[in-house]
Order: sequence, then structure tokens, then C-alpha cells
Amino acid sequence: MAPQPHTVRWGIMATGWIAEMFVKDLLTNPAARHVQDVAHKLVAVASSTSKDSAASFLTKVKAPEGVTTYGSYAELVADPDVDIVYVATPHSHHFQNTMLALEAGKNVLCEKAFTVTAAQAKKLVETARSKKLFLMEAVWTRYFPLAYCTIASPNKKKEAPKTVAAINKYATGADEMTNIILQFPKHKSMGIAMTCLRIPTDTDGHNSSGPAIKIQGPLGEIQVMGPAFKPLQYRVIKKDSAGKVEIVDCPIPQDRERDWGHGMFWEADECARCLRDGKKESSTLPWEESIVIMEIMEEALKQGGVDYPELITTDVYDAKSPLNTGKR
Ligand SMILES: NC(=O)c1ccc[n+]([C@@H]2O[C@H](COP(=O)([O-])OP(=O)(O)OC[C@H]3O[C@@H](n4cnc5c(N)ncnc54)[C@H](OP(=O)(O)O)[C@@H]3O)[C@@H](O)[C@H]2O)c1
Repeated sequence: MAPQPHTVRWGIMATGWIAEMFVKDLLTNPAARHVQDVAHKLVAVASSTSKDSAASFLTKVKAPEGVTTYGSYAELVADPDVDIVYVATPHSHHFQNTMLALEAGKNVLCEKAFTVTAAQAKKLVETARSKKLFLMEAVWTRYFPLAYCTIASPNKKKEAPKTVAAINKYATGADEMTNIILQFPKHKSMGIAMTCLRIPTDTDGHNSSGPAIKIQGPLGEIQVMGPAFKPLQYRVIKKDSAGKVEIVDCPIPQDRERDWGHGMFWEADECARCLRDGKKESSTLPWEESIVIMEIMEEALKQGGVDYPELITTDVYDAKSPLNTGKR
């Protein structure tokens, strides 16, 4: 008889857009993506708005019977049936919400951006370490098979870059368009990242404007086709290839029965494997890297002159913060 998969019991904090995408993926059959060793069970959902919102969410995702609904995040993290909490609130809330879960003894997968400041990210990591809990930033594309082929190099010591950034702001002061140059002096390499709320990288949705990501080196170029947040194809153009382009498609497997497959299940599988193996952090996205990402973000915001209020930048945990109690 085949060994039983290791099943992880999930509690979902918040009922917005990304929570819906993630939970629909959690509910897909792992066999549809050829995964046999781990499985996922949705046990509870919490909305800071009301228990009714949590119930409507379950209807939207076509959840099976028996999932508990809560009208507060505090109740969710106290649920003994929950192994891991998925924090799907706005990033302004991540520090307080993740601390709420960690303080209650729960493992956490926290949406990106991980936090608002690097100090907050460090505090989350310190708390997870001292409480011997699993903690991971939900950089879902890191776990795409495509990323394994092209970008991620697990276990390799990465160099923290120097950062130069410029930001255009709305009249409200919110960051609208950001360009960042990253310099890796030891590796003699550089990266340029551009993002904008109003201008898409893939103008017509058919990659007519070229690749969303280019990785260039002396031996050639890898092009990752858009959209950058959910790439499904990459191309390899070797130096002296005489115009030959190797095209590799990496489609996201669909669960035909649920008519769904967004690609977030791979990060959930990683969490389940880490919990099964007693790992507290993912080797594909170690804590140190999430902290470096936040240091870069913080530096870019500083150089771009973006200021956030104390309520969301504080690294002092407060279970009764409005970010935890849902007072709007
Ligand atoms: N991985 C990805 O590709 C990806 C994509 C999009 C977004 N994200 C990240 O996921 C997080 C959530 O994004 P989203 O698009 O799901 O946002 P959203 O649709 O606005 O949902 C956020 C949810 O957070 C809860 N919430 C608690 N306090 C809130 C407040 N003061 N204002 C608004 N919402 C509040 C609400 O749920 P309740 O009322 O049920 O508590 C709300 O539905 C963000 O950090 C975002 O950066 C990641």
C-alpha cells in the first residue's frame, strides 16, 4: 500500500482576493500536479469583519462541509485544530497579524510584502526561532517549476545588494511607480527592477512587448515571458546560437474536477513538506533572504521619500492593535 500523504491543517486569516486564490488551490487534488507525499485540509477561516463574511468566503471557494468560521483573527489562532495560519491581510497588517499567530504557537505562511520594515521582519524571525515555529514569506512564484529551472538556487549563499531607487508618488503620498537598481559588487552583477501600478509589463496580455524578465550573462540570455507575477514560459538564447531560441512552456496543472489551478499550491506543498520534516524555514526562501528583501524595500522607500504611519511601522507587538482586532 502507498504511504499516506502528510496532511497539513490550514487556518486562513482574512477573506480577500488572494485568500480566495490560495484556498481554491489548497482545495485542488494534489494528484492533478503529481504530488503524492503531502496534502492539505482547510479547517478554519477567519474574517475580521464578521463570521458571516467567513461563511460567504467558504461558499465562494466551494469549500467542503465542516470548516470552522470565525469573526476574529484571535479566535482563529486559538483553534487547536490549526497547524498553520495563512496570513492574507494587507502588508500593513502582516507584522501584527503574524505575531498574533506566532504568539499563539502557530506556524505561519505570510503573504508578501512580508512586512513594512526590516526591523519587523527581523522580529518575526526572532519570534519564530525562539518559539521553534515554521515561518515563510509567501513568494509563490519561487515554488513554480519554472523558477526552479531558471532563477532559484536553493542553499546558495546570496549577496545582499547595494540599492539605488527612485519613486514617483500619487498626490496622496502613496508610491505609484518605482525603479530600483541593485548592485552585487562581489558577484560583479547588477539587476534593474521596475514596477508601476498603472503601466503593465505585458501591454496586450500576449507578450507582444517582449519578455517581462531578462537574465543576461556572458553565455547568453534567459527570457521569462510575462506576466512577471505568474510566468508560464521561458526562453533560452545561447551566445552564438545563430538565431535559435529554446522555448520552454511551464503550464500550471489544472484540477479538472474543481476547474481550478492558479499555481499557489506549490508554495503550500513546500510548507507541508517543511512541517513534515520539522524544518522551521524553507531552504528555497530562507529567513535571511526575506530580511534582505525588506532591507532593500525599506531603502528604496527611504530614497523615494515614502513615509508610513507609526501604526504600521512599529515593531512593538500589540495583540489589541486595531490591525489585529479589525477596527477600521
Ligand atoms: N502572492 C501574490 O501574488 C499576491 C497577489 C495579490 C496580493 N498579495 C498580497 O496579499 C495581501 C492581501 O492582498 P489582497 O489582494 O487579497 O487584498 P484584499 O482583497 O483587499 O484583501 C485583504 C483582506 O484583509 C482583511 N483586512 C483586515 N483589515 C483590513 C483593512 N484595514 N483594510 C483592508 N483589508 C483588511 C480583509 O479580510 P477580512 O475582512 O476577512 O478580515 C480583506 O478582505 C497583500 O499583502 C498583498 O500584497 C499577494
